[in-house]
Amino acid sequence: MTVPYKLSASILSADFTKLGEQIQEVEKAGADWIHVDVMDGHFVPNLTMGPFIVNACRHVTQLPLDVHLMIETPENLLEAFAQAGSSILSVHVETCPNLHHTLQLIHELGCKAGVVLNPATSVNLVEPVLHMVDLVLVMSVNPGFSGQSFLPEVLPKLTLLRHDIEKINPSIFLEIDGGINSSTLPLALNAGANVFVAAHAIFDYPGGIGAGVQQLRSHFPV
Ligand code: DX5
Ligand code: ZN
Repeated sequence: MTVPYKLSASILSADFTKLGEQIQEVEKAGADWIHVDVMDGHFVPNLTMGPFIVNACRHVTQLPLDVHLMIETPENLLEAFAQAGSSILSVHVETCPNLHHTLQLIHELGCKAGVVLNPATSVNLVEPVLHMVDLVLVMSVNPGFSGQSFLPEVLPKLTLLRHDIEKINPSIFLEIDGGINSSTLPLALNAGANVFVAAHAIFDYPGGIGAGVQQLRSHFPV
């Protein structure tokens, strides 16, 4: 492993009546990135945030904003999300018939480019574009909601992708998203992931947000 481990705190489980304070709390506790789950009610059965929220986040933290686009025809909104202050824009392969072009466009807009695979999507679909991405995100739940259970059957995809990444460009981040907690994070880490998204395990942690962040980070190799 040549790249460091990162914890990306998903605000999907945050208390939106005090979003700014909660982002600052996860930053202070040691989260590395802020993960913003954008859902359109079509590609996934939930409707969440747009560029306006990304911009609000940009004003309360210096951390990279890891924006996960679960929307159809993401090309139409890339510019708005880039202008709002996104650091990483990740698109689902299932939504991008012209994936190569979409990734080029993200880079032209000055953002890092990520590709996302749903649990039932094969790694073969991203292999042709691995040379041009900064991040690959493997979904370990069917996207739409926080607080779902981790699907262990996606672990072999992490192993395959880690192998590809080490050959092509070891600095590509391999991110896992969905059901990450103290029990599942080590499984994903051992399978090759080095960026871990968590919503429920941070924002609903019984001991508080700070303790939730620290608990997850305690599994990172030193
Ligand atoms: C699911 C989202 C995830 C979600 C993770 O569609 O992409 O980022 O917020 O939530 P937890 O960590 O609670 O599974
Ligand atoms: Zn996500």
